[in-house]
Amino acid sequence: MALSLQLDRQSSVPLARQIQIHIERLIREKYLAPGVKLPATRELALALGVNRTTVALAYEELVAGGQARAHVGQGTFVAAPAAGESRPAPPTPARIPLDWSRLFSRSAHMAGSRADRRAAVPAGARPLISFAEGTPDSGMFPTDAFRRVLNQVVKSEGTALLQYPPGGDGYPSLRTYLATYLLRFGVEAREDDILVVNGSQQGFDLIARTFIDPGDVVAMEQPTYPRAIDVFRSAGAQIVPVPWDREGPSADALEQVLMRHRPKLFYCQPTAHNPTGLTMTPEAARRVLDVVARHHVPVVEDGFDGSLYYGERRPFPLRALDRDGLVLYIGTFSKVLFPGLRLGWLVAPPPVVERLRAAKQLADLGTSPLIQAAVHRFCERRLLDRHVARIGREYDRRRSTLLEALGRHMPEGVSWTEPRGGFSLLVTLPAGCDATGLLPRALRRGVGFTPGARFFVDGSGDRTARLSFSSVPVKRIEDGVKRLAEALADWRRSGGPRPAPERLEALVV
Ligand SMILES: Cc1ncc(COP(=O)(O)O)c(C=O)c1O
Repeated sequence: MALSLQLDRQSSVPLARQIQIHIERLIREKYLAPGVKLPATRELALALGVNRTTVALAYEELVAGGQARAHVGQGTFVAAPAAGESRPAPPTPARIPLDWSRLFSRSAHMAGSRADRRAAVPAGARPLISFAEGTPDSGMFPTDAFRRVLNQVVKSEGTALLQYPPGGDGYPSLRTYLATYLLRFGVEAREDDILVVNGSQQGFDLIARTFIDPGDVVAMEQPTYPRAIDVFRSAGAQIVPVPWDREGPSADALEQVLMRHRPKLFYCQPTAHNPTGLTMTPEAARRVLDVVARHHVPVVEDGFDGSLYYGERRPFPLRALDRDGLVLYIGTFSKVLFPGLRLGWLVAPPPVVERLRAAKQLADLGTSPLIQAAVHRFCERRLLDRHVARIGREYDRRRSTLLEALGRHMPEGVSWTEPRGGFSLLVTLPAGCDATGLLPRALRRGVGFTPGARFFVDGSGDRTARLSFSSVPVKRIEDGVKRLAEALADWRRSGGPRPAPERLEALVV
């Protein structure tokens, strides 16, 4: 680490003291974090043009004051503040500070207001069994195999892969692979129909930038994935919900919404829906496609990878049934491989791909060619197929264990969806019980979940909770469900149902 510091050689303050004061400020104002190694005395002395003993003296004072620790033979390190000690806040600058929030865009305000708030686990609670993480289990990651392919591509193609991606596309072989891969799911896409993106999330963002002006309407299935809602909202869209029934988003409700609100897009997750785990039946999918075709409204299909499904029949993406070219299909390696890759793809008609690619150029100049090449090699060697077969079996076991445990332990009045894909299911709690209110009781009992309201566009869904099974080992699932049942019993004991809204109004009046 280098340190730049203007020493005042005319000052009456000794040079060692000036160095000490400077480093103390950097520590106090958190520019230097605990554990960071200070520059070697010789190095800093050389950089500042002072004697080495001057720097050594400054460091000794820092150590004496508890700001740093010296480790013989290793150097001097910033110390962690002692328990209970808080380093004073930085002094307020003399001039009126700039009010940044006045300058933030509407979109930035929107994004900030929607930042996820996490409930804190109360002190003294039991160790947590968390059904809140809808992520792949990192314990099953094929890390070593991936490290090997990464090494191989760096060795064989490193210089090209570490350059800017030419034309923003980076690694055409991955698109060639994807075109073949998607045929397994009935999706016919040529290389020119595919844009590689930094995860599905970037796919939503590029679609929003390309299609949405402030004030436009986006129709979205309900419940649905909250981060997709956030993207369209922060682009200035008004979101109109289309409720799911057992089979998929209701085609009748969709038709009403399309007629009344004339949305630009309809977003849905037909296969492995988050939060319910349901998949659209082929009949429901055809009804939806028929409606959007009659009204000329494109569909944004957020397609959880079709390889991870439970039961007999692999679900069909809408895109596979789309004869009118209206479906923009988004896929990702986040669930079947690693979310940390930030790698996904978008399938769209070439003129749309061109626009999306232009938006992507503005956003990031392209997805990492290195990551694309490593994933391509991983897939080509059939390592992905092997991995998916293994994790698919395990997630299926977790899903069945959760369903059985819910059947055994949930009290009357609780119902849940039966997932056919994905990582989670949606529980509906007894009348009067809201999931946000239940959560602190559940955390005290040592179980976590995601309150369902976040998945509802119109502020409903208070009585629902998402349970994700992907990250909970089989042997802990039943215990987690028992704890949830205990939390529900606590809730009943503490007064049970709250007055229904009408009752509450009567009380207020
Ligand atoms: C339905 C859905 N869509 C998209 C995403 C984001 O995926 P990615 O990691 O590809 O951005 C998630 C992540 O949980 C998701 O559940």
